[in-house]
Formats: sequence, structure tokens, C-alpha cells
Amino acid sequence: MSKNMSWGGRFAEGPHAATAAYTQSQSFDRALYKQDISASKAHASMLARQGIIPADDARAIVRGLDRVMEEIATGVFVWKPELEDIHMNVEARLIELVGEAGKKLHTGRSRNDQVGLAFRLYVADSIERWQRNAVGLCAVLTKRAARHKRDILPGCTHLQPAQPVSLAQHLLAYAWMFRRDTERLDDTLKRVRVSPLGAAALAGAPYPLDPLGVAGEVGFIAIYGNSMDAVSDRDFALEAIFCAATIMMHLSRLCEEIILWSNPAFGFVRLPDGYSTGSSIMPQKRNPDVAELMRGKTGRVYGALTALLTIMKGLPLAYNRDMQEDKEAFFDADATVESSLRIMADMLDALDFHTDRMRKACSLGFLNATELADYLVAKGLPFREAHHAAGQAVAVAEGKDGGLEDMSLDEFQKIEPRIGRDVYAVLDCAAAVRRRESPGGTGPRSVERQLKQLARWMSNRR
Ligand code: ARG
Repeated sequence: MSKNMSWGGRFAEGPHAATAAYTQSQSFDRALYKQDISASKAHASMLARQGIIPADDARAIVRGLDRVMEEIATGVFVWKPELEDIHMNVEARLIELVGEAGKKLHTGRSRNDQVGLAFRLYVADSIERWQRNAVGLCAVLTKRAARHKRDILPGCTHLQPAQPVSLAQHLLAYAWMFRRDTERLDDTLKRVRVSPLGAAALAGAPYPLDPLGVAGEVGFIAIYGNSMDAVSDRDFALEAIFCAATIMMHLSRLCEEIILWSNPAFGFVRLPDGYSTGSSIMPQKRNPDVAELMRGKTGRVYGALTALLTIMKGLPLAYNRDMQEDKEAFFDADATVESSLRIMADMLDALDFHTDRMRKACSLGFLNATELADYLVAKGLPFREAHHAAGQAVAVAEGKDGGLEDMSLDEFQKIEPRIGRDVYAVLDCAAAVRRRESPGGTGPRSVERQLKQLARWMSNRR
């Protein structure tokens, strides 16, 4: 194996082939090429502005880097595994192209601060993509919700029938989760868009660098406060993966609903053909594989989060090679969360809701028992006594295999004489939904307010 041109000066021989293969990252960190090259261009221009290298050299470097960018983008670039990573591959090609000037690019810089900036630029781009997709998913959720303000289904706690809610309310619960995810990423971006370039290897540099100028040129808002922290900080990637994990957790909950709802025992949704698969043995099957896989892929993203937390655990200052392991974990989480957000939006848009089945399901499980208790409170009973009387009514109805609404007035009055004929209107599940207009409640006016709030938020983000 030949000596490495970037650091081989003090070595008599190059690394073993197995060592080179084990330590290289160019096979995957080439994904950072755009970010690496634009950061290098900004660095070269700054070096010239600060009088550290001649302006002509900086111009040659920028021209050469544009050419390298072009070569990589069009697939003609020749990658050299022995050059370890994206950074050294780009620099070596630059020197081939522009000669002596190219050798000045690395002045006042180390791969440690270089990779930090390139990776941060990449993570910032990914976050913006996730945000666009999360807003896109909110758009589908609100669009579908808008048509179901008055369609009701059993709302559950403990996955047991609790109180009736509108389908719109149920769908909007998820829109609010993805809105929160988007805003959480806004906050993360503040710490991602901080440039470490200028920290050099770990101690800073003896040149009159202008790190803030470089940061501004690549679109970042701030620079590091301490050079040792700068080159060994991966909090930004951890936070981003945590946000991705939270998005996947939310998606997995929605997947679980779709999986349950598509079971014929529920029959609340029919999966479109394009989003279900059959069985090789059971001809009747229509399996929710997309939703199941998304639920499963949530585990992958949690894995990436756990991996990076563990990679960083106990690392002494400053840069350690362990940190090279950050990229594949992030790339995998990135691809998973982005494709999941997209496919969920498309699948949801194509889902058939069986609102008749949802409404029928409201007659099971005494969803209107709370209505009876609230009715008795209105008749002057303290809530605890009202709760007790409603519970007795449930026991009577259950004994007859019916609902509360199937009980006779006589049966009601045996439990509580203050119950009148007007109880039947109160027990109606659709009416129960209509009454719940408290802030954020399931009533149609409350749902309408939520839709407006979400629409305003989405249009501000566009
Ligand atoms: N490929 C390395 C990484 O991804 C770049 C930094 C290497 N620095 C070093 N001194 N070996 O972390």
C-alpha cells in the first residue's frame, strides 16, 4: 500500500490493505461532496481576503473546486479508497487540476473542523427536507379531516371505548404532532447552523482567520465558542436524529391505528391496493405491510440514535476517530424518516374511510355513559353520585345486551327518579360530539378553529 499523500511524511510505509479498508470513509462520506466543496470555496476566499494566501491562488482553487464538483456530479470523478475520505479525495484532485495553488487550500484548517462544517451543512439540508415533508403530511391530514367534522367513531383510552370523537379530531391529533416535530427541528437548526471552521485540529490557528465570514458565506448564523468543543461536538447530529426518532414514533402510532382499523373486526378503513400486499397462501389477505414496515423502521432510527449516543459516550477531548461512525447512522436515519413521511402522506391521501362502520361501532362499549352522568349533574346530582348512577345503568343495559339508549324510561327511573324522557337526546353519540366545544375539543366549531390554526401555520411555512 502506498503512503498517504496528506499525512504520509513521517511514515516509511503505508497502512495495510485491511487497515485502509477498515478506516476509510470515502465509500459513504462522498455524500457530503457538495457541502465539503462549498465550505472549501468559502475557506479559500477567506484565506485570500485575510491576506493569508494570494488572491490568484484562491481564484485558482475556487475554479478547480468547481471543476471537481462537476466531475463528481457527472460521475466521472475517480475515487481513491487509499485517500480515506471525501476531504482528501477532493483535495488531491484539486492539486492535480490546479497544481501549487491547490496545496494552499488546507492552510489554517484541519479535517477535524472541515468534516464538522461539511456534516453540519448536510444535516441542515436534511432537516429542511424533513420539515417540508412533515408540513406536507400535515396538509394531507388537515385536508382529510376537513371533510369529517361530523363523522364519529369511538375514541379510546387504554384501547377501550371511551367517548365518541369526530374522525376529524382524531386525524388532527396527528397533524399537531407533526407540527410540533417541525417546530422542534427549527430549534435544532439553531445549533446545527454553527460553523466549527477555524478551530483547526483542536487548538485554533496562528493565522488571522475570519471564521464568521466563512460561516456567513455558507449560510450559517454563528461560529463555535471554543475550538476543542467545536471539533468534538456531535450534539447537532444527535439532536437531529432524536427529532427524526420522534417523528418515526409519531408515524408508528398512526401506522398502528391504520393496522387496527384495517382489520375487518374494526373495518374503519380499506387500504388501497397500492398500499397493501397479499399472502402467498391465504387468498383473502390484504395486509397493511407499508404501515407495519414503517412501524418497524422506527426501530432503525432509534438504533441510529442509540448508536451515536454510544459512540460519543466517554470520548475524551477533542476529535476522536470514533466520530467517523456518526455519518452512516445519520444517513440511514435521514433516508428512513424522509421516505416514511412521504409514503405516509401518499397512503393517507388514498385511504378509504368507512364512516358508516365507525358510526356503528359507537353503539358498542357505552361511549355515552359519561353523557348520562353529565345529564344527572345538570339535574342537580353531585358528579360522584351521577357517576355511580350511570354505572348502575350500564350494568342494567349490559345485562340486556343492549346500549343505554335501549333502556326504558322505567328502567332509568328505577335507578334515578330525576331521569326524564329528555335523556334519550342526550345519549345520542353525534350530539355528544357536538357538545364538546371546549378549547381543542372534538366539537365541530373547535375542529374548525384547529383547521384554521393549522392552515395559517402551514401557509406561514411555505
Ligand atoms: N473521515 C473523518 C471523519 O469522518 C474526517 C476527519 C479525520 N481526521 C483525522 N484526523 N483522522 O470523521
